[in-house]
Amino acid sequence: MTTTTQIQSFRTLGATGPRVSALGLGCMGMSALYGDADRAESIATVHAALEAGVTLLDTGDFYGMGHNELLIGEALRTAPAARREQALISVKFGALRGPDGDWLGYDGRPEAVRNFAAYSLQRLGVDHIDVYRIARLDPAVPIEETVGAIAELVEKGYVRHIGLSEVGAGTIRRAAATAPVADLQIEYSLISRGIEAEILPTTRELGIGVTAYGVLSRGLISGHFSAGRHLAANDFRAHSPRFQGENLRHNLKLVEALREIAGRKGVTVAQTAIAWVLSRGEDIVPLVGARTRQRLTESLGALDVVLDAADLAAIEDAVPAGAAAGERYAAPQMAHLDSER
Ligand SMILES: NC(=O)c1ccc[n+]([C@@H]2O[C@H](COP(=O)([O-])OP(=O)(O)OC[C@H]3O[C@@H](n4cnc5c(N)ncnc54)[C@H](OP(=O)(O)O)[C@@H]3O)[C@@H](O)[C@H]2O)c1
Repeated sequence: MTTTTQIQSFRTLGATGPRVSALGLGCMGMSALYGDADRAESIATVHAALEAGVTLLDTGDFYGMGHNELLIGEALRTAPAARREQALISVKFGALRGPDGDWLGYDGRPEAVRNFAAYSLQRLGVDHIDVYRIARLDPAVPIEETVGAIAELVEKGYVRHIGLSEVGAGTIRRAAATAPVADLQIEYSLISRGIEAEILPTTRELGIGVTAYGVLSRGLISGHFSAGRHLAANDFRAHSPRFQGENLRHNLKLVEALREIAGRKGVTVAQTAIAWVLSRGEDIVPLVGARTRQRLTESLGALDVVLDAADLAAIEDAVPAGAAAGERYAAPQMAHLDSER
């Protein structure tokens, strides 16, 4: 295995949030949504990330119905104390799941927020959560009430910072008027650029950072995905519009165009895609969904990739905004995205 980059660059989440490593580790795929993961390798990946200087770990209480938080809790318990102490944990809550894994909606009522937080603290084995956010807006509960309940948890010391996830400009403004918001977590990549029109200008105006997820579009633009790959029925990608038939063929052509640029620079496609997100602004922290040490090492290498104006123009040419075929979520999930309204 190649030597892992030791992180030297840090970014601050908004005007009020914590200073974090310029790349965060998204742990979702270690428990859910991308087919089976190897538990021992997942824990080794979290340890390797902390060792390399990653400080931000992202999870959701509904990723594997608590599985992901228990896994992170175990990884933290078995890490050296100094590594454990550097970790900042970002937790999403609010998604309701059934025993068979069904998605039943979202609950942002203040009493639910307190209940979710109590369980997360227990599963993670920590006395506070660093950034706490509802995964999707609960349409039945004003955002002021949900954010207000998190603000109370901040006052009591159970949470350090308030975050948002997949909400649009109007909701961001209402949330920020209620309490200080550190960051918005939202999908952003070469092929998911919807935030550039209104959401990013709003977070910038209000001093809110962005933790970008799906920077590899769930592996689609990593350079490792191929049309022949078998996906289990419980793999998100088996149902994602961008991974289907003609859409997939079209999208993989974009990846080949990107591969040429990456090849000229002597870096990988994934590193180019991550470096592009990093180049969009100091207020943006990509969350990479690595679930093996090998993928982590590759991702961290993006921090050493310098994209100059000519590189950025070539990338823009190869993958212009709006070039992807297919929406980023299937229709029923798109309906939950306040950010797409
Ligand atoms: N707020 C929200 O609504 C929301 C939604 C989704 C995710 N998130 C958070 O954001 C994190 C990142 O999202 P994501 O996992 O969907 O994004 P991603 O980084 O775009 O995709 C990760 C997938 O890409 C593949 N991959 C290929 N090369 C890779 C490399 N060098 N490094 C990392 N992955 C590589 C891996 O698949 P294989 O292992 O199969 O190769 C991996 O499962 C999640 O873990 C989660 O914490 C938040």
